[in-house]
Amino acid sequence: MSQLTIEPTGAALGAFVTGIDLTHPLSAADAAALRAAAVAHKVIFLPDQHITLDDLERVTDALGGRTTTPFVKPLDGRPMVIRVLKEADAKIGFGEAWHTDLSYLPAPPAFTCLWSSEIPPKGGDTMWSNQAAAYAALDEATKAEIAPLYGVHTAGGPYAAGGYYAQVQDQLSMTILPSDEALKEQRHPLVVTHPETGEKLLFVNQTYTRRIEGYDDERSARLLRRLCLHAVEERFRYRLQWRPHMLTIWDNRATQHFAINDYPGFRREMFRTSVKGEVPQAA
Ligand code: SIN
Repeated sequence: MSQLTIEPTGAALGAFVTGIDLTHPLSAADAAALRAAAVAHKVIFLPDQHITLDDLERVTDALGGRTTTPFVKPLDGRPMVIRVLKEADAKIGFGEAWHTDLSYLPAPPAFTCLWSSEIPPKGGDTMWSNQAAAYAALDEATKAEIAPLYGVHTAGGPYAAGGYYAQVQDQLSMTILPSDEALKEQRHPLVVTHPETGEKLLFVNQTYTRRIEGYDDERSARLLRRLCLHAVEERFRYRLQWRPHMLTIWDNRATQHFAINDYPGFRREMFRTSVKGEVPQAA
C-alpha cells in the first residue's frame, strides 16, 4: 500500500495528497484511501501526476466507475472524458459560475476528477465551497424552514437550445451540445445527508437550481438567492492555484465549485471525468 501524505489546506476544505503514483493501477487499498481522503477533505489535490488519459480513466473507475457528462462533446474514443479548454483567444470559460456538477440529474456524480494539462502563467484558479459547513452555519429558523423543502434543478440555463452556451458558442473553445432535453426538471431536497459521512449538506446552486417547489415565484427567488449566496461565502471556500499535471478530485455531493476566468491571452486545458453517484437523500 502507498504511504499517503495528506496536508489539509487549513481552510474550510481541501488537502494536498502526495505519496501515490497514479501512473500504475491502484491497489484496492490505495483506491479506498484516496476515496476516503476525498470524502474527508471534500477536495484533494495531487500535484506532479504525469498521467495519461488511460490513467485518468482507471483512477475514475477505481473511485466508483465512470459516468457521462451530458451536453458536452466528449473526446473521440473516450465517451466519458471531456476536455475543459479555453484557447488563448477565447473569451468565455467553462464553469465560470458556482455549481455542483450535474445536479440536474436524478443521481449526480459522487466525485469529479479534473487533471491539468496546461495552465496559464497566472490566474485560472478554481474555488470550492464546503456545503456541510454552509449548512451548519445557517440560523435555526432557516434550517427549520428548509428541512422539508425541495429544489427544482434543470440544465436549461446553460445547455438548452437557446441557453447561455448556445449564445456564446463562437467565443468558447469547447463543443457544447445544446438541447431542450436540458429543460427536464429534477427535484432534490434542499438539505441532503451525505451517504458516507452522514453530514447534513445544503444542496442548492445558482447554475442549476431554478426554484423551490411549493413556493410562489417571488418567495422562491428570494429564498433561493439567499441560500445560494450563503452557500459560497468566503468562509466556506478554498481557492486553488493550479500547476500543470495536478489531479484534483472533489466530492461533488458536498461541494460547489467555480472556475475563475481571469487569464485573457493564455491557454488553459484540463481533462475531466465523473464518478457515478447515488440519488441524494433528504436529511
Ligand atoms: C468545471 O468542471 O466546472 C471546470 C472547473 C475548472 O476548469 O476549474
